[in-house]
Amino acid sequence: CPVSKRKGERLNRPNKQIGDMTNQSKILIKGGKVVNEDCTVIADVYIEDGLIKEIGLNLQIPGGVKIIDATDKLVLPGGIDTHTHMELEFMGTKAVDDFHTGTKAALAGGTTMILDFVIPQKGTSLLDAYERWRAMADSKVCCDYSLHVAVTWWSDTVKQEMETLVQEKGVNSFKMFMAYKDVFMLQDHELYAAFSQCKEVGAIAQVHAENGDLIAEAKIVGMSSVVYQCQFEGARRMISLGITGPEGHELCRPEEVEAEATQRAITIAHSVNCPLYVVHVMSKSAAKVVANARRNGRVVFGEPIAAGLGTDGTHYWHEDWAHAAGFVMGPPLRPDPSTPGYLMDLLANDDLSVTGTDNCTFSVCQKALGKDDFTKIPNGVNGVEDRMSVIWEKGVHSGKMDENRFVAVTSSNAAKIFNLYPRKGRIGKGSDADVVVWDPNATRTISAKTHHQAVDHNIFEGMVCHGLPVVTISRGKVVYEEGVLQATPGEGRFIARRPFPEFVYKRVKQREQVGKPTPVNRKPYEGEVISISSQN
Ligand code: URP
Ligand code: ZN
Ligand code: ZN
Ligand code: ZN
Repeated sequence: CPVSKRKGERLNRPNKQIGDMTNQSKILIKGGKVVNEDCTVIADVYIEDGLIKEIGLNLQIPGGVKIIDATDKLVLPGGIDTHTHMELEFMGTKAVDDFHTGTKAALAGGTTMILDFVIPQKGTSLLDAYERWRAMADSKVCCDYSLHVAVTWWSDTVKQEMETLVQEKGVNSFKMFMAYKDVFMLQDHELYAAFSQCKEVGAIAQVHAENGDLIAEAKIVGMSSVVYQCQFEGARRMISLGITGPEGHELCRPEEVEAEATQRAITIAHSVNCPLYVVHVMSKSAAKVVANARRNGRVVFGEPIAAGLGTDGTHYWHEDWAHAAGFVMGPPLRPDPSTPGYLMDLLANDDLSVTGTDNCTFSVCQKALGKDDFTKIPNGVNGVEDRMSVIWEKGVHSGKMDENRFVAVTSSNAAKIFNLYPRKGRIGKGSDADVVVWDPNATRTISAKTHHQAVDHNIFEGMVCHGLPVVTISRGKVVYEEGVLQATPGEGRFIARRPFPEFVYKRVKQREQVGKPTPVNRKPYEGEVISISSQN
């Protein structure tokens, strides 16, 4: 089976030269509505040498400039996908979209930066894994990227390496797994230690929140650097009932399993005054837990993903096995069809804060590793290309959010939380020229036949989206225009991030100073005290 949909470029696109599209370092975007998270203004945007140089009307611009007419269009900060797994080796196989096809597809969809996860095996060095990811990504990325690092075990070495990653390697976020028992999962006391270290070094603690003890009976039947298979107690029960298909995946890990872990992570993070970021919030119950915590003043951020906002878990019951398996990911999509709309409402209201995709793609022949046993279906779905359109369609076109909130949840909030703002996430003088010209009236139907990802199916197949990117500018160059993609591997850069982002840590630091409990000043007790030994 050809794992990848195709090798090389798309066949059904015209192979035309895009005029002065490449190597053009001076660009004027004229007459568009410039949208930031706090305001919308009609203005021209002038770009030179990778940066936004001027914003305003009637700008004095030198000759030799490429002009883009943005009349009736929006000019947005490029999207930031907070959660990807390009070419991840997982469940015995390797995600088919690599840093090249994945970032190329991102650009076609209006995303100009991704944050991918370094995931070291238990017992191995975080720093070595980080260097491996850099070696994989640096030569392939078509857009800028940054790296979160997963803490999959705990020791003094790990603690020290976290500090080195923050001080020397541009990492300010660490993901802890509460699931995948004996593989990646940390115990509560290890979460406590890891969260404490995050707070110490000024990083954001991220959690994959699912109760791994409940999901798993924790019998790891096989594990190597690239393979792990778990035999789940719940799964075995399903299989004994004759449930071997993808529906068993959801039945084994219902939403309270996600909600309980979310609450536990929030409690542990609060006990050490550490800011917490819950990745892939997939259910109404987990989203309610995050929303309540925010209402109780906790420094917590929730990240729904394109899959959870754009589709649902009813597909696990589809009669075509390959169709159903295409939606298998962890935590699962939820069969309650009101879930996506509910997550979008919370995203619009700032109960949830940012959006990623968890893009981790496996073609049908890879998914088929689990054709007789759903526990062996590689977990992961697409999203990096379609996130912006799906959120526009379900969020803005539906009337749940305005274009400013769209910018906040697709770009600016991620830049603020991960300390990239205003270099990223803003159309502002001096910001990186990662810019999207967005046509809110154009429509497109999502399909694996026309997408730019290497994977051979698309969980949003057939979805009609109003609102799509017509031009994408990455690092000051037009890389996508009129449906033609001209992205170059290695053009993107690793973006180092500094610790203690103010958006997150100002409150944390202030609480640290004023929130310390003090003893009650009282006279010593001078009355009688019983003798314990006399009681025996
Ligand atoms: O199904 C998923 N989510 N695959 C990627 C690994 C993870 O837990 O994020
Ligand atoms: Zn996860
Ligand atoms: Zn379906
Ligand atoms: Zn993930």
